[in-house]
Parts: sequence; structure tokens; C-alpha cells
Amino acid sequence: MARVGILTGGGDCPGLNAVIRGVVRKAVKVHGNQAVGFRYGWAGVVGGNTVPLDLDNTSGILPRGGTILGSSRTNPYGMDGDVEKVKETLAVEAIDMLIPIGGEDTLGVARRLSDDGLINVVGVPKTIDNDLSATDFTFGFQTAVQIVTDAIDRLHTTAESHNRVMVVEVMGRSAGHIALWSGMAGGADAILIPERPFDIDEVVRHIQRRHERGKTFSIVVVAEGATPAGAEVTTGGETDAFGHARLGGIGVFLEGEIRARTGYDARATILGHVQRGGTPTAFDRVLATRFGVAAIDAAMEGDFGKMVSLRGQSIVRVPLADALSESKLVDPDLYATAETFFG
Ligand code: F6P
Repeated sequence: MARVGILTGGGDCPGLNAVIRGVVRKAVKVHGNQAVGFRYGWAGVVGGNTVPLDLDNTSGILPRGGTILGSSRTNPYGMDGDVEKVKETLAVEAIDMLIPIGGEDTLGVARRLSDDGLINVVGVPKTIDNDLSATDFTFGFQTAVQIVTDAIDRLHTTAESHNRVMVVEVMGRSAGHIALWSGMAGGADAILIPERPFDIDEVVRHIQRRHERGKTFSIVVVAEGATPAGAEVTTGGETDAFGHARLGGIGVFLEGEIRARTGYDARATILGHVQRGGTPTAFDRVLATRFGVAAIDAAMEGDFGKMVSLRGQSIVRVPLADALSESKLVDPDLYATAETFFG
């Protein structure tokens, strides 16, 4: 019998509970293991904050958003002495293998611990931003896209009633997948993403062209990490334990610029954490469940230092090192297709 540790780190994401359920169900019921949850990501490993996980307390969590384990952006390599505490906790809890569920920061820590020979690891990729290169999709992304699409549909009707330009700011710090997919699904008139610094004059031209055609409203979707070409972005200076600046504000900037340059009434909506909350879509529940089951299977085969990933229709294993090597950016061809509908 092995003792399997599980943790969820970084920003939460619909589908995390489905992964936890998948790991525990297969680990306990099929492999006869014990499962231990670490609370609040790496903070739980550093501080020895654990909860036993079993068939009972992981039952009924499949459709639930958030994570029953809690999450944090704690970085054990960021504070002196924390790696020693990690070692201690893993020894006290007699953890044989660890399944961290997280994005590049959480899995980056997992990789270092694994490279340092401190723990056997199989990672599960997680981010609503869908920007991990080694997997075709991360769970939570489709849910976020659906939430934003629903919001755009609602903004359409009020934009039309008031002859307004609606600017919708969505998540996506270095990649614009959420903006592009939801913008395409919602029929946006311009989609601005971090991969392509935008020209504000061009955005204005799209809107004016619509007005010349008799349309009295427009929808602009902008990723939080998008920037105007040649301009500095101000972030307010706040950073997390992994050094990421807190983003936000580009929607309000655009609202002001569009109003000033066109004279049209403009309003910004910042969807923020609404995109991460609530129940996962069916696709994300299934993907998350498959990831959880595949992760414990890999661990039981001793295939450590890997991350499970979706390639086409199949779940495969990729080395953690490759998984974290580069961000997945928006496919230029997909963006070109979306551009057909701008303005
Ligand atoms: O990493 C996913 C993400 O959704 C980013 O797009 C966003 O910048 C960040 O999380 C915000 O998360 P928090 O407010 O929890 O720091």
C-alpha cells in the first residue's frame, strides 16, 4: 500500500475537484492506496497541513467549482528553510508519491523537488488560461470560455439598446486563448490579445466601419495582458510569490480611448474571477477526471517526473521539463479566422 499526496496550487479552476475525485477513486478503490490532501497548495506541504482523503469525503464533488483542498501561490523555493520543511512533512506523512495539480509555477516547484530527488511526482496541468504548451487543452478553459461567451451574449442586448461600445476584459496574462475563443463564439467586433500589441487607431477604425454600415453598437474583447503597441503597461506594482504582477485595467483604458476618439458611448466590463468560479462544463469534468485517473496510473507504474496531458483524443505522459519549457500562444491561423469578422 502506497501513500499518495495530492495538492492544488495557483489560481483555482473549475474541474480541480473532479481531478481530486479521479485520483482518490482510482488510488483507493483500485490500487488499495491511502490518499492524503495537502491544504492550500505548497503551503500545506511546508506547514504540514493535511487532510485524509477517502471515498466518502471525495464523493459528490465532481460538479463543484473551486477546490476542496484550498489553493495558494506559496513557493517553497521562495523562503529560506521551506524546502527543509517540505522534506520533514513528506517524511512525517510517509508520502510515497505526490500528485500536484497546478500551472507552470506549481508544477515548476514539483519539478525542482523531483530533480532534487526529494519526492516522486506526477503532475496534472491546470489553468483556465490554457497556455501550457505540452497539452492541447487544460480543464477549466472551456468553462471560462462559456462563462465569457454567456456574458458577451448578455452585453450584446444592452449594447444594442443603448448604442454603446462594450469593452469586455477577460483573463489571459501572456496568452489570449480565452479572449479569442469567447470573442469568436460571441461575435466580437475586435479581439485584443497579449501576443499582438494592438493599434488603437485600428480598433477605432473597426468600430467606425460598423457605424458607417448602420450598426450602432460594438463589442471589443480584450485579454488582461494585451497592450497598446509601443506603450508601457502599468500594473500597480503588486506581485505574487512567483513574481507575477497583478494585471487589470486595460479595459478601462480602452473605454476612455474609444470614447475620446469616436465620441461613442463606451463601457468596460471586467469579468475577473467570475471566469474561474462555479461548476465545470461537461467537457472539463471529463477531461479533469481522465487526468486524475491517468496521473495515479502513471504514479503506480513508477513513471515519475511526468505530467499527464491531452494530445488529440488521448491522454499521454510528457516529461515535466518539456511541459514547462514554453507557454502555448494563440494560433495565428485561428486569430486570422477571427479577424474576418472584425469591424
Ligand atoms: O493564472 C490564471 C489567472 O487566471 C490569470 O489569467 C490571472 O492573471 C490570474 O490567474 C489572477 O489570479 P489571482 O487574482 O488569483 O492572482
